[in-house]
Amino acid sequence: MELLLEGHLLSTPEETRRAGALLAPFLIPGDVIALRGDLGAGKTTFVGGVAKALGTRDEVISPTFNIMKCYFNAKPALYHIDAYRLEGQMIDIGLDEAIEGDGASFIEWPDFIRPLIPEDHLEIEFLHDGESRRMNVRSGGERSRELGLRFKEALHG
Ligand SMILES: Nc1ncnc2c1ncn2[C@@H]1O[C@H](COP(=O)(O)OP(=O)(O)OP(=O)(O)O)[C@@H](O)[C@H]1O
Ligand SMILES: [Mg+2]
Repeated sequence: MELLLEGHLLSTPEETRRAGALLAPFLIPGDVIALRGDLGAGKTTFVGGVAKALGTRDEVISPTFNIMKCYFNAKPALYHIDAYRLEGQMIDIGLDEAIEGDGASFIEWPDFIRPLIPEDHLEIEFLHDGESRRMNVRSGGERSRELGLRFKEALHG
């Protein structure tokens, strides 16, 4: 993975949501974004910002008990996957079809479904820094690099 952005400070939940909103305009169908970070690091908060910016009015809640939630009224469609409950069990629930499908996929706890994640994906890692968070961004291929660089530009602009 290529490191594109390191230690970007997110001081408040609102800043985490705003970061998601800044990524949203660059998303195209097929994009895969792996969200790494400990429990409570801000992954779902970030997806909430993405969803709102993509035009869905639905509130984004943790899909932990559903594993996947689809927002078809977002443009592009948004797939929010939380693989936390899948640790150690590779059950086929059509995640691969969603990931290769006609929307952008955001995956919490990607390490638990690694074989399903294409190499060319954007990785956003959230780290606790006191009450705040920090964000690292990495790309695994050509498309995710382009996406990540646009995201970086928007954050700094
Ligand atoms: N930049 C930030 N600074 C401080 N608090 C934040 C920040 N971003 C998010 N939070 C808060 O952290 C808490 C946990 O956020 P969230 O549910 O998004 O974490 P998560 O990474 O999805 O956790 P899990 O792994 O349990 O799904 C929420 O209360 C949220 O408001
Ligand atoms: Mg979450």
